[in-house]
Amino acid sequence: MCGIVGYLGRERAAPVLLGGLQKLEYRGYDSAGIALMHDGALTLIRRRGRVSELQFAEGFLGNAGIGHTRWATHGAPCERNAHPQRFGKVCLVHNGIIENAARLKEQCLARGETFSSETDSEVVAHLIDGEYAKDGDLLKAVRRAARRLTGSYALAVLAEGTEEIVCARMRSPLVVAVGQEGVFAASDMTAVAAAGRTAYVLEDGDFARMTCGKAELFDASLVPVARAPVPLAAERSSDGKGAYPHFMRKEIAEVPQAVRATLKGARIGGLLAQNKVLCQTKYLHIVACGTAYHSGLCMKAACERIARIPVQVFLASEYRYAEPIVPADTLTVAVSQSGETADTLAAAELAKEKGSFVLGVVNAPHSSLARLADAVLQTRAGTEIAVAATKSFNAQLAALYALAARLAKLRGKGTYPLGAFPALCKETLSACENVAAWVPRFAAARCVFFLGRGADRYAALEGSLKLKEVSYLPGEGYAAGELKHGTLALVDERTPVVAVICDEALADKTMNAVHEVYARGAPVFLVTPFRELCRAREVTASVVIPHCMPVFAPMLSVIPLQLLAYHTALAVGADPDKPRNLAKSVTVE
Ligand code: M6R
Repeated sequence: MCGIVGYLGRERAAPVLLGGLQKLEYRGYDSAGIALMHDGALTLIRRRGRVSELQFAEGFLGNAGIGHTRWATHGAPCERNAHPQRFGKVCLVHNGIIENAARLKEQCLARGETFSSETDSEVVAHLIDGEYAKDGDLLKAVRRAARRLTGSYALAVLAEGTEEIVCARMRSPLVVAVGQEGVFAASDMTAVAAAGRTAYVLEDGDFARMTCGKAELFDASLVPVARAPVPLAAERSSDGKGAYPHFMRKEIAEVPQAVRATLKGARIGGLLAQNKVLCQTKYLHIVACGTAYHSGLCMKAACERIARIPVQVFLASEYRYAEPIVPADTLTVAVSQSGETADTLAAAELAKEKGSFVLGVVNAPHSSLARLADAVLQTRAGTEIAVAATKSFNAQLAALYALAARLAKLRGKGTYPLGAFPALCKETLSACENVAAWVPRFAAARCVFFLGRGADRYAALEGSLKLKEVSYLPGEGYAAGELKHGTLALVDERTPVVAVICDEALADKTMNAVHEVYARGAPVFLVTPFRELCRAREVTASVVIPHCMPVFAPMLSVIPLQLLAYHTALAVGADPDKPRNLAKSVTVE
């Protein structure tokens, strides 16, 4: 979603800001802009489209500036709605949503002020400008304006007449970093990570004032505060795509190492430290969105089977409105790659309010979720650049299966070693070479079904989401036995069906669904460890994956589905790394 950068220092600001914005491109956006302060005057450059459209401004003068990538919420993606937004002497970039913007705007209009955009953010510029006019103190002006805002915001603000950048944070991430070259602000560590710099993560209600060589932090009352410094290393993910044409393909190849690193982290302390809580746990609630929600469903299948603990999985966006019943001794697991998903954060907060211990399963170690959770089980997938979650999904499964195995062990329900999974993932990747050849049937499809039973169904759901988001083909993940209760009406020869069958006990049942779709002309593609099933006349093509315990099989069966989505995206001419309309990190509700 939207991204913020700010810089003030010895270097020219424009190239620093553009470099930072490029690092934020992966989050998804539809317009971008920068503002530069030079000799007390502000220059704004904004464009619809990519950050590269701003490249012409690289040589512009000014040692302070702010920049933004915008993912449209209020108002269309166009130049006048792009950030920075300016009013009077004030210019700002904003992430988040101002919920009372309409009412505040009416007040501004009543004072005779005019608006040049449809954004909620411009309203904030109006408020700060009004306050700044009173005493010329930008920090105090931002604070006074912030008190009138409801909603979420990360702000970086410049004003004519000052040599400083003021930042504010409320429910939208923001860090400031200090290095030899100057001070930086960003909504995402990725944009400021470099060896030798130290970052400070702002907390909700915090303000920061960046002046030459210095970043001062203040709490909501403007009392100076110290926040724990986070030393930054050079961002390894920005190494680029390596030998791969796309990040998505590279990240699928990185699945084995993401799983290995996550399992190792879970062994060394991650879970052992939580023995007391785990021994007391009677119920498990999982809150998550999208792909992370699917990893939660896979965990339900595994944990209920091996640890015999009841698991409820909630879409985080529904959790608050479901008035969830949270019995004593419920462990709430909030799963998120970014750790910044607004709905997941809100659900985790509510679970805490209801007295539940919250375990964050999170990939970004300094994220809001990592700080909100009572404990963290880190997934160690490394930075994931492609919008489509792939290696982070497998890493989430690794962490969650390790949790299920630990719960089973503590309950005397046996031991479930997971150490073979990195090698099995590697073997699965090698078995997937023919998946690219399936693609012509998918690229020409009207609709695609992914079928499975039990844990296989959850892998099917994730396979379907992947295909939809990167190739724009409509489709559904479906319970194999449910198809004939209505949805079978959609199936014909232009409806490829992917069946996932990894549980021998359920294989015949899912094969019944295969017979049914085949009889309606659908081409059938099979993902299974059972070679004999692939010989059935109904099967158009198949991938034979390694055997493992069926409840853990999504870890392997999802890999050919991720690759299928990737290759189909290429075949339909879509960019698999940047699906239209989507953002990597969904920081608004
Ligand atoms: O960062 P999170 O894991 O909390 O993100 C949740 C979803 O937005 C995310 O999993 C999304 O569904 C995937 N990027 C889709 O591939």
